[in-house]
Amino acid sequence: MNRTIIISNRLPLQITIDDQKLDVTPSVGGLATGLKSFHRDGDSVWIGWSGLTKEEIPDNLLPEVEKKAREEACIAVNFTAEEIDGFYYGFSNRSIWPLFHYFMEFTEWDADKWEIYKSVNQKYADVVIENYREGDNIWVHDYQLLLVPQMIRDKEPNASIGFFNHIPFPSYEVFRTVPWREEILKGMLGANLIGFHTFDYERHFLSSVSRILRHQVQFNEVSLPDRIIKVDSFPMGIDYDKFEQAALKHREVTAGKESELQRRLNHHRQKSPDSKLILSIDRLDYTKGIANRIRAFEYFLEKYPEYIENIRLVMLAVPSRSNVPQYQLLKREIDELVGRINGKFATVNWIPIWYFYRSMPFENLIDLYTSCNIALITPIRDGMNLVAKEYIATRTDQTGVLILSEMAGAFHEMNEALIINPNDFEQIANAIQQAIKMPKEEQVRRNTILQKRLKRYSVEKWADDFMTALERTREIKPAFKAK
Ligand code: ADP
Ligand code: G6P
Repeated sequence: MNRTIIISNRLPLQITIDDQKLDVTPSVGGLATGLKSFHRDGDSVWIGWSGLTKEEIPDNLLPEVEKKAREEACIAVNFTAEEIDGFYYGFSNRSIWPLFHYFMEFTEWDADKWEIYKSVNQKYADVVIENYREGDNIWVHDYQLLLVPQMIRDKEPNASIGFFNHIPFPSYEVFRTVPWREEILKGMLGANLIGFHTFDYERHFLSSVSRILRHQVQFNEVSLPDRIIKVDSFPMGIDYDKFEQAALKHREVTAGKESELQRRLNHHRQKSPDSKLILSIDRLDYTKGIANRIRAFEYFLEKYPEYIENIRLVMLAVPSRSNVPQYQLLKREIDELVGRINGKFATVNWIPIWYFYRSMPFENLIDLYTSCNIALITPIRDGMNLVAKEYIATRTDQTGVLILSEMAGAFHEMNEALIINPNDFEQIANAIQQAIKMPKEEQVRRNTILQKRLKRYSVEKWADDFMTALERTREIKPAFKAK
């Protein structure tokens, strides 16, 4: 297969500088964690933002930032604070992100930020063109870079360009509210192949293309006068072996003993040996339904008081996009909710919610996945949700219950989980109770099916399916001249 140029806003590595010293950590988020293994195993170069603004990089450290990226086959692109403000904290995360997740009340339209979004997209396209060699496949990712495919096509008309959207694509009725809707669709249509996680997102996109641009859409093809664009769904998987192997190793190391996390959790004794741990992991984002989840847990404790001192919610929220006001407000709301509920129910021996607001190393993540009996994943809207898949992959003894929102893209492939509507507290409380009471044989039966499916549709398979479909588009000739 040809070399791939991956381009996404966030690189798989995050660089920070403290006191003239560079620190490199892995990026959090489905795109980076998922695509990392494709990048690691194949012939690719990855272009993206280093996580630093130009002002934050002293001149003497710039070569080192570039070197750190190069060591991982990455090309780091740096932007000014003004660019990051308009492009990343601005149009990407105050306009596109909320709108595409149906949070219309959070969506702002600001013409200046749109201009910066366009110019940053152009800078990304220019870096791709600088590095492009004939025969390369170019794979553009996500909502921050919607205009990049056409910007590349303008300079390299014959390039093979794929675009994958990692978040939902909203229905036409929502998308049509965007002031620059034509430009956005035309930007995406610069690609030869456009991929989404689910058929619904694909359908919404095609509907917008045909109603807004009036292009001819037949099945999953868009016909332009000189090109045909394929649109398809490719549900993203996880690096299954990595999670399974890490869990097996973890169980081996801790065999018969408590892990550090379990020791700490059990330090605050719970009443019975049957007591349960519920896990929740997300970036701190309003789309993830974290506040709803806490309220539903409160309702559960009210409805089933017999579980007081016998259940605990272990909640990990990773700081995210904290310059955007809605994220700051959410942080305050969650602090307040956790404090109120812990104050209301805590006993001398027990607190109901253990809340961590930070990122954690991979080993701790595995410890959490393998230690918790139930995973409670309740997004209001989520393009896919890889955490749900990672939890199942680490359950190497097949026990554990996943409670999953029907608003996550992952729901379509994970019907054996307990499926809930994140706005229905009654249903969530009952699902928690059902999960606690679920016999082991039933847990094993459900998880065996899930694991088989996740193993087959791994992230390697996802990337391979996408790249094979992209290679095939090289052979497509327009069947007719559209009017
Ligand atoms: P999103 O892409 O919206 O953040 P996903 O659930 O699809 O949501 O992906 C989140 C990814 O981030 C997962 O691969 C998960 O393992 C990783 N992750 C989540 N929390 C942490 C954490 N505290 N530390 C490190 N990685 C994390
Ligand atoms: C989601 C988006 C990614 C993004 C990630 C983390 O997964 O689809 O594009 O990288 O969230 O968000 P951040 O703003 O930190 O890059």
